[in-house]
Amino acid sequence: MCGIVGYLGNRNALGPVVDGLKALEYRGYDSAGIAYINGGDCRVIKKAGRVEALEKLVRKEKAVPKLALGHTRWATHGAPTTQNAHPHFNHDKTIMVVHNGIIENFQVIKDRLTELGYQFSTETDTEVIPHLIEYHYKQSGSFEAAFEKTIQELEGAFAIVAISSLAPGQLFAARLSSPLVLGVGEDEFILASDPSAIMEHTKKVIYLEDYELAIINHDSYKIRNFDRSADVKKTAEELDFDLELAQLGNFPNFMLKEIFEAPQTIKLATLGRIRPASGTVKLGGLVDVKEKLKLIERIIIVACGTSYYAGLVGEYLIEELAHIPVEVQLASEFKYRFEPFSPSTAVIAISQSGETADTIAALKKIEGRHMLRLGIVNAVGSTIARMTDAGVYCHAGPEQAVASTKAFIAQVCVLAEIGLHFGNGKMKDRKNFLRELDNLPKKAEAVLAQADKIRKIAEKYTHFQDFLYIGRRYGYPCALEGALKLKEITYIHAEGYAAGEMKHGPLAMIDKHFATFAIAADCPLIEKIYSNISEIKARGGPIVAVATEGNRQIKKMVDDVIYIPKTLEQLQPILVAIVIQLFAYYAAIKLGRNVDRPRNLAKSVTVE
Ligand code: F6R
Repeated sequence: MCGIVGYLGNRNALGPVVDGLKALEYRGYDSAGIAYINGGDCRVIKKAGRVEALEKLVRKEKAVPKLALGHTRWATHGAPTTQNAHPHFNHDKTIMVVHNGIIENFQVIKDRLTELGYQFSTETDTEVIPHLIEYHYKQSGSFEAAFEKTIQELEGAFAIVAISSLAPGQLFAARLSSPLVLGVGEDEFILASDPSAIMEHTKKVIYLEDYELAIINHDSYKIRNFDRSADVKKTAEELDFDLELAQLGNFPNFMLKEIFEAPQTIKLATLGRIRPASGTVKLGGLVDVKEKLKLIERIIIVACGTSYYAGLVGEYLIEELAHIPVEVQLASEFKYRFEPFSPSTAVIAISQSGETADTIAALKKIEGRHMLRLGIVNAVGSTIARMTDAGVYCHAGPEQAVASTKAFIAQVCVLAEIGLHFGNGKMKDRKNFLRELDNLPKKAEAVLAQADKIRKIAEKYTHFQDFLYIGRRYGYPCALEGALKLKEITYIHAEGYAAGEMKHGPLAMIDKHFATFAIAADCPLIEKIYSNISEIKARGGPIVAVATEGNRQIKKMVDDVIYIPKTLEQLQPILVAIVIQLFAYYAAIKLGRNVDRPRNLAKSVTVE
């Protein structure tokens, strides 16, 4: 979703701001803009479309400003036009504002300001902010006070950065439910929605919390709690973010790079945590809540999208490994649902970005209910990582492509580890399980070695407009995730279904124009999966299947087979995930799609 960058320092601010916007492109956006202060003047440049187009305009600027801000917009209020792009400003362009989130009471503010003679030129909620700052500035004569007063009046979710020729050496920022990080460099400050726009310049960061605002001068900064109107003492912490991991290397795009990181992802998610020789699992992130974990009798997993599907795999894993009942809920439903809770229930939030608005809202819903809140998060220091009582990091490194790939793999690894941790000896053959998990990177390599074969198969299926993904048990969430991957990056209609449901409806759709992707890796229900496949074949439906190496029978039943190495059924989702990701990826490339930034989607969904 929208990305924000702000810069105040000794360099030409346009460089770090444009570079920062490029680093944030992966979040998804439809227009971009920058504003800067040079001498006593404010200048703004905006453009619908890519940052590249904006950069061409910015390069023509002769000024060398030391203070600037930039924004990539993912439209919520108003069409994705140049006019609606950020920054937004007041009537004489002395105040420039960028904003991520939604101002829920913008109409009330707009009506009030309109009555006072203020005029608006865009359809956005953001435009009320510079006008309201101007209004308060006229009352108090202090820009700092006007900024704080304005922020206090806003309702909703926001990260806001402002600059003004009325305060030409200062950068202003505020946050409520939308991420904002301040990088503290040598003689410079960089503000951004996430560390990927900062890490090139400094590893020292301050995460702004809800209700915090920052006033940044050339050589100092001040953080205030705008709810309490009080100063807050904060010092910079070290960023745990590997720059190399965020760069493309020899890959044509981030999605392929991230799929190929699967073996390393498994290693990083298990490193130092699993001990196959002793059959033990050590999760440092759960040590502090060791005693509370012993009292847990029920687990609710909340997440969205791919993380939700990883949660569904986790349901099977934790129930089987730990014998604790697990329920997986979409965060967007959980937060509006009435249900009885007890303190013996733990809620596990799964999120790659750690910034997904619905997942954050789900955690907020249970605040004060004395329930343990755990996180399985990839982005270190993100909101969810900080708001949970304890958790286990995925350690998958930055995921840049919009479609989640390696994060799913890391999440499933962590869920298996949590299952064993909770199980505390309930599973009979822990050593064997951990040995298999330890060997999985090699098996993932073997799947990746078949990329070219998978490409050829995927390309054969790109003319289909409809796809059904089916699976049973651990294969069922894989089917859901396979369908999501296909639809989000190819735009082909795809549905995931439990194979056992075929006769309860979906079979009616099957004919030679409706293709099926069957998850048919070895499992106790393989014969039943064969029956489902036969029913589809009997109705002329083309089928591609993923099966376990050595399964000759399936070759005779389907049109194409992709094999994965033999492993435990509980760990199959990790290998199957690589196949479905590559299948969707190559189909999308064949169709000429932008795999890293599919249309209408954003990487982190920071609004409801
Ligand atoms: C799909 C995808 C999304 C995310 C979802 C949750 O490929 O990326 O469905 O999984 O938006 O995001 P996180 O995990 O960041 O909370």
